[in-house]
Amino acid sequence: MVPPQDGKICGTICLCQMTAVLSSVALVYLTVAIYMPSMRAFQSGISEVPAMCTTTRAVTKDTCDWGSCGEWCLSKTSGACIQIYVNLRHNGSNIQYANCTNSANKTCYGIDQENAKKYRCIADECKNLTGTFNCTMGMCINITDAFECVFQETEPPLKCSGKRGKITCIELHGLQSCTRGTCGRIKSPYNCDRRCVDIPTRNKNVIILSGDRVFLSQCQRALLAGSEQEIWSQDQDDVFMSSCYSIETTEDGMEASDCINGSTLEKSYLTDLTNFTYLNFLSVTSTKILDESRQIAPPEEDLILANESRLLVNLEGCVNTLRDECREFLKEYGKDGTDHNARARFPCFYADHNRDTVVARFNLAITFREFVIGSTVPSVLFVVSCLTLMLCQRTVEVGDDSKMRFKKKAAAIIPGVVADDITPGDAGGGAHAMAL
Ligand SMILES: *[C@@H]1O[C@H](CO)[C@@H](O)[C@H](O)[C@H]1NC(C)=O
Ligand SMILES: *[C@@H]1O[C@H](CO)[C@@H](O)[C@H](O)[C@H]1NC(C)=O
Ligand SMILES: *[C@@H]1O[C@H](CO)[C@@H](O)[C@H](O)[C@H]1NC(C)=O
Ligand SMILES: *[C@@H]1O[C@H](CO)[C@@H](O)[C@H](O)[C@H]1NC(C)=O
Ligand SMILES: *[C@@H]1O[C@H](CO)[C@@H](O)[C@H](O)[C@H]1NC(C)=O
Ligand SMILES: *[C@@H]1O[C@H](CO)[C@@H](O)[C@H](O)[C@H]1NC(C)=O
Ligand SMILES: *[C@@H]1O[C@H](CO)[C@@H](O)[C@H](O)[C@H]1NC(C)=O
Ligand SMILES: *[C@@H]1O[C@H](CO)[C@@H](O)[C@H](O)[C@H]1NC(C)=O
Ligand SMILES: *[C@@H]1O[C@H](CO)[C@@H](O)[C@H](O)[C@H]1NC(C)=O
Repeated sequence: MVPPQDGKICGTICLCQMTAVLSSVALVYLTVAIYMPSMRAFQSGISEVPAMCTTTRAVTKDTCDWGSCGEWCLSKTSGACIQIYVNLRHNGSNIQYANCTNSANKTCYGIDQENAKKYRCIADECKNLTGTFNCTMGMCINITDAFECVFQETEPPLKCSGKRGKITCIELHGLQSCTRGTCGRIKSPYNCDRRCVDIPTRNKNVIILSGDRVFLSQCQRALLAGSEQEIWSQDQDDVFMSSCYSIETTEDGMEASDCINGSTLEKSYLTDLTNFTYLNFLSVTSTKILDESRQIAPPEEDLILANESRLLVNLEGCVNTLRDECREFLKEYGKDGTDHNARARFPCFYADHNRDTVVARFNLAITFREFVIGSTVPSVLFVVSCLTLMLCQRTVEVGDDSKMRFKKKAAAIIPGVVADDITPGDAGGGAHAMAL
């Protein structure tokens, strides 16, 4: 019969063996998941100070040799993936607008294709359509409020109302101009522009475009941030326009970062209200460059470092969090302007010797910390558990009654004393130790 064992000894040995096995497995796994990527990051030569990127294209490929973001790095992504191409450029200028009053801002929302209400013709939801609609195979989205479409002709209209309406319109496709359920397909050429109207330009002399937003204000001066250099003042009696990445409003002004395309526009072009399309049009056609030497808020093309670089979420091009991070990432960084919304513009990291690839996330400090934690914790656990096991091997023995117990310390070390000390009960252990 096997007697009950000492719970503490058994528990310790069991725990140590488990820890040893698990930490060695972790070491193998982390080699792939952390050490190799960290080493690659340290050796990549990527600068820790970001430049700026603008998305130019987001392509969905069925078979791909690279993707901008993949879930789960341990398996090679198979099947479809999204490739994002960006233009890489130097930062623009940081500009401080001083003594501003009368500030206003306007956000121009486009259509969010995913969340917009969809009218399904098969369910007879098209019988009342009025306005301009973008349809794909019988699913229509109301774009009347967001877009202003200029066109000459429509195809012969279809009647979506009435009994046979849902059959007639089951395959409604393309841009449709509808009145109470009668829809005609808009023939090309047509031109649909974002309708972002009623931008208040009365008494404004500063206009900042930032993505889908417009900031307007009446300021006294514009300075190069961090210096007292004046680059524009209200005495010039014109309107200062530029395109910036981020804008912070402070007590008496605004701070804008990464401003490019700085230009001035004659006041006579603007009346009390304007629209986004016209503003964009003016900024391209009717403006004068702000800084003739092209140093402060220069035109975008002066700053370009590389055209059509590949964007990766990080050096690996994949994430391990399994929290659907990629969907968010691709949605945010994949905005290439095809839906008439602004293109994505964001800080990105690159290596000077390889500008064909840029990464959106790069932080050597965090990588280093992960590396240190990822290597010390499992190694320490492994060493400690192995040492404990070795210690157990030296100090624990199995007696004749097949029970584990600690060796008598004295017995193990000074055999000479043993004979006198050993009590009959411990004889088995002592004898065993002597034999060793
Ligand atoms: C460029 O702009 C980004 C975002 O404003 C900033 O984080 C980065 O430090 C800037 N880079 C340089 C070289 O100034
Ligand atoms: C703002 O205006 C006040 C009064 O007109 C002037 O004293 C001050 O210097 C101005 N601040 C800047 C930064 O120009
Ligand atoms: C934009 O304007 C609204 C009011 O028109 C204001 O509440 C908001 O703070 C402004 N946003 C910024 C970023 O200045
Ligand atoms: C269609 O439009 C008419 C008049 O505008 C309205 O009375 C009716 O409720 C609408 N029907 C549906 C299904 O929306
Ligand atoms: C589409 O939007 C326009 C403008 O807001 C509106 O007049 C029209 O009723 C909308 N059509 C439908 C079917 O909701
Ligand atoms: C925008 O403004 C221009 C000039 O003021 C005007 O011709 C055009 O019709 C406007 N567009 C929209 C959509 O209001
Ligand atoms: C800057 O100007 C160029 C040329 O006019 C234009 O193509 C580009 O889109 C502008 N960039 C931004 C961010 O508005
Ligand atoms: C980027 O493309 C433009 C037009 O295609 C070209 O003029 C420019 O030289 C290119 N810049 C670089 C850095 O390749
Ligand atoms: C209409 O929808 C298609 C597909 O969803 C999209 O590619 C196109 O840009 C849309 N057109 C407009 C004017 O929103």
